[in-house]
Amino acid sequence: MDNAQTVDAARGLFPGGVNSPVRSFRSVGGRPVPIARGAGPFVFDTEGNRYIDYIGAFGPLILGHAPAPVVEAIRKAAGEGTAFGALTPGEVELGRRVTQATGLERVRFVNSGTEATMTAIRLARAATGRDILVKFDGGYHGHSDGLLVKAGSGVATLGLSDSAGVPAAIAGLTAVLPYNDPAALEAWFAANAGATAAVIVEPVAGNMGLVEPSAAFLEALNTVPRAHGALLIADEVITGFRFRYGLSSLLPSADLACLGKVIGGGLPVGALGGRAEVMDLLAPLGPVYQAGTLSGNPLVTAAGAAMLDQLADGRAYARLEELGRHFENGLLAAIRRAEIRASVVRRGSALTLFFRPEAPRDYSEARESDTAAFGRFHAGMLARGIMLPPSQFETWFVSAAHGEAEIDATVNAAHEVLREAGQS
Ligand SMILES: Cc1ncc(COP(=O)(O)O)c(C=O)c1O
Repeated sequence: MDNAQTVDAARGLFPGGVNSPVRSFRSVGGRPVPIARGAGPFVFDTEGNRYIDYIGAFGPLILGHAPAPVVEAIRKAAGEGTAFGALTPGEVELGRRVTQATGLERVRFVNSGTEATMTAIRLARAATGRDILVKFDGGYHGHSDGLLVKAGSGVATLGLSDSAGVPAAIAGLTAVLPYNDPAALEAWFAANAGATAAVIVEPVAGNMGLVEPSAAFLEALNTVPRAHGALLIADEVITGFRFRYGLSSLLPSADLACLGKVIGGGLPVGALGGRAEVMDLLAPLGPVYQAGTLSGNPLVTAAGAAMLDQLADGRAYARLEELGRHFENGLLAAIRRAEIRASVVRRGSALTLFFRPEAPRDYSEARESDTAAFGRFHAGMLARGIMLPPSQFETWFVSAAHGEAEIDATVNAAHEVLREAGQS
């Protein structure tokens, strides 16, 4: 099957032709490119065309595609049986690595980030005996009902459902506040402390494009919920093991942390962890139920452990910082030359180019970006063999398999594309 045949066949099989909405390319108005294989920094479509990849599976592939030690670990594990429904030594191996690197006393492995955040919230409600959850506008924490909620009309109001099929009663248990607004967080707790179980937040927002937290916001996150008896849930599904070996270190007061992506070596994974006294509320020790047929799966734990072994000495992170800086500088030069209104937000190997003159501080600012310009930019880059995430509001990921040659080729393509794309 060539690209067109694959896309057409998928349309008859899957809603919108995909198994996760962003893959449809609807946000950029193009046709999705089906990927047949990946190698290092590259992906190849079904017709053998090569692209430099910055999707990186939306975060897990910090070593690039098909890194030999991870592939070998999966192969070996698969030969020994793919699932047992029993405790395995592989779980212990990955569990040791994750707890040692993060300082989390206990972890539970699940199959996705969605499961991790859903369970963390259930735990926080059980631990506090309170029901209300606070999240931030533009924060994404997976697709469980209570998290598909957008801001209500006022700043500190309970939320409205962001998806059909979510009962208003459930959306109404989630309050949505603006990101990077410590005063809104303080005001929320001043009025609603007794009802608020937890605050869930991405320490660096990765799902409105990349948006940096301010020092004042981090300070408020680390102090305000605790002062009012609520739990802080750090959603480190993207940030965990992406910027350093362990958690981001921006939310040291977090009671629970959620992980995913990198710790599964590119296989389906999630995890939540925290202090033993909170985590031990989970069944079978405590009253909070959670389970999973394939949780802690041996292929996943083998891939995750092999991935973390490549990262543990920190050298990959130093290299990723170098590559990220080189990329950022190149893009900024291309933006200046093209004389367009755009900005770049970067931390380590994660970045977003916004078609907006200043880096956004929250979702309302991110939404001011010229998404039509981003769509033109995406199409122009794709035509030059550069695979960017197909939305203005996604983060680009550089991997340790990328080199200066790939970054320079990308920046050169951006030089060509930006001027035309950025004219509105
Ligand atoms: C910060 C964050 N939390 C949770 C999730 C959900 O993870 P998953 O897609 O594995 O369910 C994502 C997914 O992109 C995410 O970026």
